[in-house]
Amino acid sequence: MLKHLGHPIFNVVKEAAEDLSLEVFVVGGFVRDAILNRPCKDIDFVTVGSGIALAKEVAKRLKNATEVNYFKHFGTAHIRQNDWDFEFVGARKESYTHDSRKPAVEEGSIQDDQNRRDFTINALAISLNASNYGALIDPFEGVKDLENKTLRTPLAPEQTFSDDPLRMMRAVRFATQLNFTIDGDTLKGIKATASRLDIISQERITDELNKIIAADKPSVGFKLMFDTKLLHQFFPEMIALQGVEERNGLKHKDNFYHTLQVLDNVADKSNDLWLRWAAIMHDIAKPDTKDFTDKEGWTFHGHEFVGSKKVKSIFRRLKLPLNDKMRYVSKLVLLHLRPIALTKEIVTDSAVRRLIFDAGEDIDDLLCLSKCDITSKNERKVKRFLANLVEVEGKIRDVEERDRVRNFQPPMSGEDIIKLFNIRPSREVGIIKNALKEAVLEGEIRNNRDEAINFVLKKGKELGLSKA
Ligand code: CTP
Repeated sequence: MLKHLGHPIFNVVKEAAEDLSLEVFVVGGFVRDAILNRPCKDIDFVTVGSGIALAKEVAKRLKNATEVNYFKHFGTAHIRQNDWDFEFVGARKESYTHDSRKPAVEEGSIQDDQNRRDFTINALAISLNASNYGALIDPFEGVKDLENKTLRTPLAPEQTFSDDPLRMMRAVRFATQLNFTIDGDTLKGIKATASRLDIISQERITDELNKIIAADKPSVGFKLMFDTKLLHQFFPEMIALQGVEERNGLKHKDNFYHTLQVLDNVADKSNDLWLRWAAIMHDIAKPDTKDFTDKEGWTFHGHEFVGSKKVKSIFRRLKLPLNDKMRYVSKLVLLHLRPIALTKEIVTDSAVRRLIFDAGEDIDDLLCLSKCDITSKNERKVKRFLANLVEVEGKIRDVEERDRVRNFQPPMSGEDIIKLFNIRPSREVGIIKNALKEAVLEGEIRNNRDEAINFVLKKGKELGLSKA
C-alpha cells in the first residue's frame, strides 16, 4: 500500500503520532479511492486516542495549513492545506456517521472503528505506525469486494443501517457512482429497514439524491431506490408515475420508466444538475391529469401546466433551492411540449418567435430536453421525431438570427412612449407596450426602432393620443 502514501502529509502524521505515542491509520474513502485509482483530496486519519491532540501536533509541523478547526464536542479536527482536507478522529466504538449533531462516543480500537463503518470497501485502513507502516488492514475482505464491485456492510445489514439509516441512500449512491452491485443480504437489509429513513433530515437525503442524479447513469440509482422502497419515503410523486393501465385494448406508457430513460438521455448530453432535474419533473403531473375517452384514448391534457406548478412544492419539501434554479426547472416543465408541437403542422415564424421569447436563454436546454423526451421503442419513429426537431432547431436559428428575440427587449420602452406623446404614466402606456411586444412577436413589424415608432404612433392614435 506504500505507493498510495506519496503525499508528504503521511510522514508528518506518522512522526506526530510517534511523538505522542499514538497509533494512527488512514481509513475510509481515501483508501477505497486510492485502490480504485479515483482522485480523492479528503484524507481521514483515525488514531487510537485523541484525534484533537494528534491534529494539534500535526498543525504545529505544517507550515502552510490554511485552516485548522477543532470540534471538541465531537472529538474531531479538520486541517485544510492547499486544496486538501485532513480529518482527525479518535477510534470509536460507536457508529461513524459524520453527522455533526452526534457527539463523540466511547473510545475504541481500530477494529472497533472499522466495525462501525458503512461498507466493507469503506472500512479499509492503512497503518502509519513504525511497526507496519503501509500495511493494509482489511478485516472484512473489502479489497475483494472492490474487485468484485460489491457493496456489503461489515456487520449485519440491519445493524449497520439502523446505526445510520442514511447509509441506505449511500449504498444506492455508491452503486450508481461506481457501477457496483449491492450484495444480496445488504439489499434485503435495505428493504427491511427502508422506512427508518424517516429519522434522517431531508437535507442529508437530498445530498445523496443529487449525487445519484449527477452520476453517469442516474436511472440505476432510481431503480434501486424504487425496488427497495427508499424512493417511496420521500418522493411519492415519482412513485405515482409507475404503472401501465389498459382500457379497450389501449395502454399508456409507464411514465416512471419513461422518465428514467429521459433522465439518462439528458445525462448523456449534459452534466447540468438542474437540466437533469427538469427531466425528472417533466411528466410529474401525468398521474394528476390522466384521463381516458373513447375518442382520444389516454390523455394527460395540461400536465405541463400542473407539473410546472408542482415544482415549487416538491422543491420545498426536498429542501432544494427555491431560487432561479427552481424557476428554471419549472419553466422547462411548462414548455417541454412546445418544440414538439412546432413539428406538427406548418409552422409560422410567429410561433417560433413566441417559443424563443418564452424560453429566452434556456431555448437550447429546452431543445435538448425535447430530444431526450423521445423514447419510443420504434427506431423509425425516434428517427423521424428527431429529424423533425432538428428542423425546428434550424427554424429557431433562422428566426433568431433575423429577429433576435431570445433576449427580447422591446424596441421602445414605456418611458419612450410617455415622452413620444408627452403623457403621464397611465393605462394607455401599458396597452401600447403590450401591443408593441405582440406586434414584434407576431411579425407584424420588425424588431427595430423605426418600425416601432410608426407602430406606436398608430396605436396611440387609436387610443386618442397624438405626438407631442
Ligand atoms: N461513514 C460511515 N457512515 C456514514 C458516513 C460515513 O461509516 N453514514 C464512514 C465511511 O467509512 C466513509 C468515511 O466515513 O468512508 C468518510 O465519509 P464521507 O467523507 O462522507 O464519504 P466517503 O466515503 O469519503 O465518500 P464521498 O467523499 O464520495 O462522500
